[in-house]
Amino acid sequence: MSEKNRKRLHELRELSAQGGGEKRIKAQHDKGKFTARERLEILLDRGSFEEIDAFVRHRSHDFGLDKQHYYGDGVVTGSGRIDGRPVFVFSQDFTVFGGSLSEAHAEKICKIMDLAMKVGVPVIGLNDSGGARIQEGVVSLGGYADIFLRNTLASGVVPQISAILGPCAGGAVYSPAITDFVFMVEQSSYMFVTGPNVVKTVTHEDVTSEDLGGAMTHASKSGVAHFTHENEVQSLTQLRRLISFIPQNNMACPPRIPTTDDHARKDESLNDIIPDNPNKPYDMKDVIARTVDDGDFMEVQEHYAANIVVGFARYDGRSVGIVANQPAVLAGVLDIDASLKAARFVRFCDCFNIPLVVFEDVPGFLPGTDQEWRGIIKHGAKLLYAFAEATVPKITIITRKAYGGAYDVMNSKHIRGDFNFAWPSAEIAVMGPKGAVEIIFKKDIAAAKDSERALEERIEEYRDKFANPFIAAERGYIDDVFEPMETRPRIIRALDILENKADTNPQKKHGNIPL
Ligand code: HXC
Repeated sequence: MSEKNRKRLHELRELSAQGGGEKRIKAQHDKGKFTARERLEILLDRGSFEEIDAFVRHRSHDFGLDKQHYYGDGVVTGSGRIDGRPVFVFSQDFTVFGGSLSEAHAEKICKIMDLAMKVGVPVIGLNDSGGARIQEGVVSLGGYADIFLRNTLASGVVPQISAILGPCAGGAVYSPAITDFVFMVEQSSYMFVTGPNVVKTVTHEDVTSEDLGGAMTHASKSGVAHFTHENEVQSLTQLRRLISFIPQNNMACPPRIPTTDDHARKDESLNDIIPDNPNKPYDMKDVIARTVDDGDFMEVQEHYAANIVVGFARYDGRSVGIVANQPAVLAGVLDIDASLKAARFVRFCDCFNIPLVVFEDVPGFLPGTDQEWRGIIKHGAKLLYAFAEATVPKITIITRKAYGGAYDVMNSKHIRGDFNFAWPSAEIAVMGPKGAVEIIFKKDIAAAKDSERALEERIEEYRDKFANPFIAAERGYIDDVFEPMETRPRIIRALDILENKADTNPQKKHGNIPL
């Protein structure tokens, strides 16, 4: 190699590494944000990043663009490793045209997505962008659509994860929205279809960016974000953790991570976790924490629809997706938000061969005009559909209430639950005792001298007869009833047995989930 060629290579590489230059890098740091390359260093195993397309430049001439060329064109792309496992990444560089998406920028992202699909590894996008490169017009819009198409085709084939680490506005939000998980950072990342100024013009609302589309807004109100963190380091570190629970693609299994937590460990405290009063709450997250490996549970969408809990954990090193009603919030009732949250999670797990473990304590679907008019029927049906179509190993533990349609929906035996267990405290019935006797003994109670007492007696009678797991167990709808303290070893044995489970759905183009 001639000295001249060598020099040129190193000069260009250096130019590419500088992005928009020192001044803009300082401005990025002053906002408390890392640069695109610094983020990749945090995200990936040390020294594992292999960049491609560092020398790509845009081909535009309008609006002075012919005088502004930056090597890399506002996005750093390539591959790297997380805990030794390969991933493809793109990291938008806000210091170059505000990370805006040009034709060339989009082509770079598409290239790594295409490679990820061929190789079968996850795609991680670090988003920090002012949206479409305004000077390029429709070419930039086309670039977005090229990405959306790839997001859609890759869905369910390789995991796709988005971290929003700056602005993400306009149609740009739709690529992250199609991906499987969205991470956001408080006070520095925003997602909205139209920003506060447009909102003010159209609806006359005064709203800040944070309130309109900040991390907590999307984590708690819209459900668009799955994880929110105080800073970028936490966010990227937790993204690494998430990757540890999931497989490389839809043909692979999640990695099995050795644990020192005894597979036969019984937790006697679980025997006392259900309160004597069936209307009293307890925290289902305690049940989860006491049964999974090392109490390690990565909750997904913690701040949204807290009446259902979803997230990843391991049993004897095996990754599982947990779906659990939360009696501590709204008595664990299923409403629209809870149904949507759990349905999407169940479908992710099913796409990627992650067994499902369900902890059930549910008094039913939430009644009322608000829920009915907003479509609890079709939204609740999504959860039913998701569990019914899932072919991964499916285990249910009914800890207390399994009432009404919610009994069917929460991974019952009838919709292909593989092992459905119950604690002795389980109450499996069409509805709660009070509601039931008020209907079936309405006349008797009204005619009784002491109606209050008659009601109490009938409730007791109903509870004795139906509010237990044994009628369901007689039918085989429940495979076994065991003491709560045995839960961990029983789940582990069930997962062992189901390891090579193979089940299929009828051949079809795709189902028609009630959207
Ligand atoms: C080209 C852009 C740009 C864009 C920012 N820049 N956005 N260049 N196209 N979309 C450039 C700026 O000119 C500036 O260049 C640098 O990036 C940093 O921008 P600032 O405005 O100085 O930064 P800040 O004050 O932090 O504000 C960031 C911002 C703001 C909130 C993102 O720049 C902004 O509102 N940009 C426009 C957002 C937008 O409306 N995008 C189009 C959305 S519609 P210099 O040279 O000074 O460093 C869309 C359609 C997609 O995206 C549809 C897909 C279906």
